[in-house]
Amino acid sequence: MVAELARGLKDVVLDTTESSFIDGEAGILLYRGYNIHDLAQQSNFIEVSYLLLYGSLPSTAELDAFHQRLTGYRKLPAEVVQVIRLVKDAHPMDVLRTAVSAVAAFDPDVEDNSRAANLRKSERLIAQFPTIVAAHHRIRHGQEPVEPRAGLSHAANFLYMLEGELPEQEAVDAMDLDFLLHAEHGANASAFAARVTASTLSDMHSSIVTAVGTLKGPLHGGAAEAVQKMTSEIGDPSRAEAYIKEKLDKKERIMGFGHRVYRAEDPRARHMRDRSKALGEKMGHSEWYQILIQVEKDMSPYQSRGIFVNVDFYAGSVYALLGLPEDLFVPIFAVGRIPGWCVEILEQYDNNMLIRPLLLYTGPKDIPFVPLNQR
Ligand code: CMC
Repeated sequence: MVAELARGLKDVVLDTTESSFIDGEAGILLYRGYNIHDLAQQSNFIEVSYLLLYGSLPSTAELDAFHQRLTGYRKLPAEVVQVIRLVKDAHPMDVLRTAVSAVAAFDPDVEDNSRAANLRKSERLIAQFPTIVAAHHRIRHGQEPVEPRAGLSHAANFLYMLEGELPEQEAVDAMDLDFLLHAEHGANASAFAARVTASTLSDMHSSIVTAVGTLKGPLHGGAAEAVQKMTSEIGDPSRAEAYIKEKLDKKERIMGFGHRVYRAEDPRARHMRDRSKALGEKMGHSEWYQILIQVEKDMSPYQSRGIFVNVDFYAGSVYALLGLPEDLFVPIFAVGRIPGWCVEILEQYDNNMLIRPLLLYTGPKDIPFVPLNQR
């Protein structure tokens, strides 16, 4: 049988899922059947995390209990903080990847691959990710980590642990929305990578380590950082057109545009666009938004080829307005994506089949072997 070559596994359907639905032509995204626009307007990241992990929206009592459990899981073992101190000069994504390995060593369920244990591990990871990112950020700046604070929401506690002071409500709302919009997205590269690891029946932490490493690349999680760098380079809306033309003439990509699945606008983008505008106006810093809007206009001829803005195009400007440094943009994506990774791994375990594609060999065959002393 001759298998068909599908480079990049483009348009290959890997398996079934009940976690999220994407209609790339129509620009629709559903989490467990709920439209992303409804969730963005009426829900929050913790409720969405529950929805993804447990399959339905929680009652008030279920949500309270979930939030309580997560609050209890926020603190890191002292040994993990010590590991973070040892690798503090590495990129925040490398530190996150290392810290996920380290928390595995202290997870009471690490040897248990049952569904119940994996749900507990998922909850712990969702709670620990913000603490890891914030603790590292402070340590690398010569500050002591801030202990997580009970009574604060997930997003508020993250910003509090980063800054050491209670954040403004607008900042909390923007952070929470950003986490929610990034929470799950089907067989994206990092979730797929996590599934590959899980499919060998390796453990959840190993699968998440794989995902963190995969998210780091500029074609995936690194795009928001690249967009913010581009915005700074452009500097003024009047320079956007020439900048874009020069890049495209050199066959370079404009970061924050295009998507493997969407041929219409990424439905998450509009929420980040609105937030970038509102935050920029509130803070008297609309310049980034103005540049981004101009770039989007200048790229409009590409819409006929299915290239529109994606979620990351406006995300960088929102993070920057919140005062977050560029090298934290990808870890922040990871803090939002962790429930999605967990649910993809859980689905893989629930109906496992080893993921093992083929490669089409294009090298020479049957070359006579020449012993070393005759070469
Ligand atoms: N700028 C200019 N041209 C583009 C872009 C872009 N951002 N994206 C795609 N194209 C062109 C590409 O050059 C190619 O043209 P041609 O057919 O003439 O060679 C065509 O569109 C198809 O591109 P592709 O690379 O075959 O499509 P893909 O599905 O493999 O790429 C992508 C998807 C996200 C890697 C790509 O659009 C890209 O590199 N975008 C910039 C990086 C980015 O913003 N990534 C974040 C993705 S959303 C967040 C996430 O899920 O991680």
